[in-house]
Amino acid sequence: MQELVIRGGRPLQGTVDASGAKNAALPVLAASLLTQEPTVLHRVPRLTDVETMTATLRALGLELEWTGPADLRIAPTGTGGTVAPRELVRRMRASVCLLGPLLATRGAATMPLPGGCVIGHRPIDLHLKGLRALGADIREDEHQVYARTDGLKGARIDMCGPRGSTVLGTANVLMAAVLAEGETVIEGAAREPEVQDLADYLVACGAQISGIGTRTLRVAGRSRLHGVDYHLIPDRIEAGTFLCAAAITGGDVSVKNLRPEHMEATLKVLQEAGVRISDTGGTLRARAERPLQPTRLATAPYPGLPTDMQPQLTAMLCVANGISEVQENVYPERFTHMPALQRMGARVECDSSRARIYGVSALHGARVIATDLRAGAALVLAGLAAEGETCIKGLNQIERGYQTPALKLRALGADVQRREADWCERRGRRPA
Ligand code: EPU
Repeated sequence: MQELVIRGGRPLQGTVDASGAKNAALPVLAASLLTQEPTVLHRVPRLTDVETMTATLRALGLELEWTGPADLRIAPTGTGGTVAPRELVRRMRASVCLLGPLLATRGAATMPLPGGCVIGHRPIDLHLKGLRALGADIREDEHQVYARTDGLKGARIDMCGPRGSTVLGTANVLMAAVLAEGETVIEGAAREPEVQDLADYLVACGAQISGIGTRTLRVAGRSRLHGVDYHLIPDRIEAGTFLCAAAITGGDVSVKNLRPEHMEATLKVLQEAGVRISDTGGTLRARAERPLQPTRLATAPYPGLPTDMQPQLTAMLCVANGISEVQENVYPERFTHMPALQRMGARVECDSSRARIYGVSALHGARVIATDLRAGAALVLAGLAAEGETCIKGLNQIERGYQTPALKLRALGADVQRREADWCERRGRRPA
């Protein structure tokens, strides 16, 4: 087990490169099951979630080879089953988006149900509703979903649930629909840039999809797709996290090779907090002076503020000059980072899906645990700003979605070490 040790208090300065988007890479990797020809993906982030997906695809009979630092060649082998391995699926909820491609190409899929999730209740009812509407026969028990079909047929499907649209649910149904017979209309589709990227990838493979980026996707089913050479979009959440790092440390950070148009809601919150943002094409620069200004924020499906930025922005507002309000509308229970922030000196109150943050002038280092990916990112940000040493256990959670975070932060001047967990237990000793 690795942990991250941060000696905070240094304003971060410099430039980092955005990695490819994790949440685009995972469904696009799943979609590689849909073609019988080799595909080459570029700008694939090297993350543990991506490793989990590539291992699952290998187990399902694909051949995957890294041909460059971020380039992945995927080829079918002509063999492969329909049962996703339990030990891999349990590591990552996004494995559920293999259901659509397996049904469309192999006529069946058995998918262990992913376990509980610390960010709250994450049902897959809308995924199953959509796939059933396309003609899948789906049975569930306590542990698994069993799906089969004699042939998918286009349908009109409303993917909107009580909390709005579903990102991976839209992806799942879209992947099934591109090989279904006839026309599918997906209403209430998620508009997230990662869903758009999946649709763009499928179109590049020969799929017929219109309405990309809108709430209604129209798909004319095809009998086959071809291989393609495709570049994934940059990671707007990783980029937003680095901009928050500039803000919380009173620093000056640029993130390059970005799509700033994907980040408007995040940039608006940063600007309201007093961070100066400049946009020079694909590079965003954030300059901040402490104290930051308090603000109000509310998460919502795209183009609203991403829930995946809420913990990081919450950490940032812990050192603002006044009271901030946070409303979490996508995952109302996504506040597991709060107790750890409190241990670091933050003054926060949570009530149902709302949090109130009373800004303090300084945080202090503490030993804390990353309960999930973005909660972990929030603790890293707090550690960068805190006085003294912060030791974050559960680095594996953070590395599910951030590529080499310690290296990237060190390049910006942070004092960050990655250590074997034992090192923190032995006070005062440093790794060799
Ligand atoms: N929902 C349902 N029924 C469903 C599916 C979802 O009620 O069948 C609800 C959820 O409970 C939630 C809301 O709809 O309240 C939105 O969930 P969504 O399905 O959109 O989430 P997801 O597709 O499972 C993706 C990202 C998450 C991100 C959410 C929301 C990937 C791999 N995951 O999850 O990313 O938080 O969209 O934007 O794309 C992360 O990267 O840290 C992460 C958790």
